[in-house]
Amino acid sequence: MPRELNVAVVGATGAVGRVFLEILEQRPFPINHLRLLASKRSAGTRVSVRGQELMVKEATLDSFDGVDIVFISAGAGVSRQLAPTAVEKGALVIDKSSAFRMAPTVPLVIPEVNGQDVEDHQGVIATPNCSTIQLVMALHPLHRVNPIKRVVVDTYQSASGAGGGAINELREQTRALSQGKSVTVEALPHQIAFNLFPHIDDFLPDGYTKEEEKMMAETRKVLHDQTIGISATCVRVPVYTCHSEAVHLEFENPMDPRQASYLLNEMPGVTVMGDSAVDSYPMPWDLAGTDDVYVGRIRKDPSISNGLAMWIVADNLRKGAALNALQIAEEVLSRDCLEIRSPSASADV
Ligand SMILES: NC(=O)c1ccc[n+]([C@@H]2O[C@H](COP(=O)([O-])OP(=O)(O)OC[C@H]3O[C@@H](n4cnc5c(N)ncnc54)[C@H](OP(=O)(O)O)[C@@H]3O)[C@@H](O)[C@H]2O)c1
Repeated sequence: MPRELNVAVVGATGAVGRVFLEILEQRPFPINHLRLLASKRSAGTRVSVRGQELMVKEATLDSFDGVDIVFISAGAGVSRQLAPTAVEKGALVIDKSSAFRMAPTVPLVIPEVNGQDVEDHQGVIATPNCSTIQLVMALHPLHRVNPIKRVVVDTYQSASGAGGGAINELREQTRALSQGKSVTVEALPHQIAFNLFPHIDDFLPDGYTKEEEKMMAETRKVLHDQTIGISATCVRVPVYTCHSEAVHLEFENPMDPRQASYLLNEMPGVTVMGDSAVDSYPMPWDLAGTDDVYVGRIRKDPSISNGLAMWIVADNLRKGAALNALQIAEEVLSRDCLEIRSPSASADV
């Protein structure tokens, strides 16, 4: 039995943070003391976790004395500001933002795919972008038996992927439009109710968005394969929770859809739903609140040699963020590598 840890959660009042606290109720992660942190705005808010009422405090550079693990889900700027101090004070930081994902000294981990990478941490372990996690969970079991040469992925990303403000905006806009009123647009770049837009995060000079670029770079990093060609189009849709993805793959060798279905079902954390001949497939409304990555509509892509098409749905707040972060911590404990094993002079956080 591992020792009980002192844990801090930065962003405890956010969409991911709240789900993280729910997941703590469901998994036996060994906690001695739990510190809930957010911005000044939420200081004093009371939250009940594991039968205890805890008060949220403002996260500052002094928040991490005596803390063993810090989970941060408060945006990249907050991670950049707080993580180095938390690491200096001896904590392991598990970060859900994009701040450190591509840093060479920071493992980017999906435990079912590259859990062993946690052993190389220098104080920070990053969890990939929500869309990347569900994609890679489905690519990995196929790629390791038949290398994937190319991935074309189009996402259908829920409002909760942009945080609590976007969830409220979808709710308020839906209500307003149903009553014939005008809408307010603040949290997202355009009206999301009864609409969708191919614009998540900022645009880059090459015409892709940062979200698309993250999916492409992070997929290669987690799979330890810089040769895979990937093109992503990320779309925000009026769904509260769960991201969906239409994926087209090109393999080195032929991939029979039945073999793909078998391999995906064997992968821990992946569930195959229905088959191409049956009117049954994953949908966000049904799967919000669940832990697995669901794959359906597995079929040959006849437009290329060795092509396969499929449809992937997962809860972006759970496996896409909070659950993956807690699983990373579980992996660290099971591998007994909470402390840095081989300090690197070039740690760049
Ligand atoms: N949503 C997803 O599906 C998803 C998936 C993967 C990764 N992530 C990442 O997780 C992070 C949080 O996302 P979210 O969806 O939970 O956003 P959110 O709902 O907007 O929540 C943001 C959280 O950060 C806190 N915060 C804001 N400024 C802060 C500051 N200066 N100091 C300390 N805490 C501060 C907020 O506290 P207050 O309540 O006090 O404002 C709130 O708890 C982001 O980096 C995001 O990229 C999100």
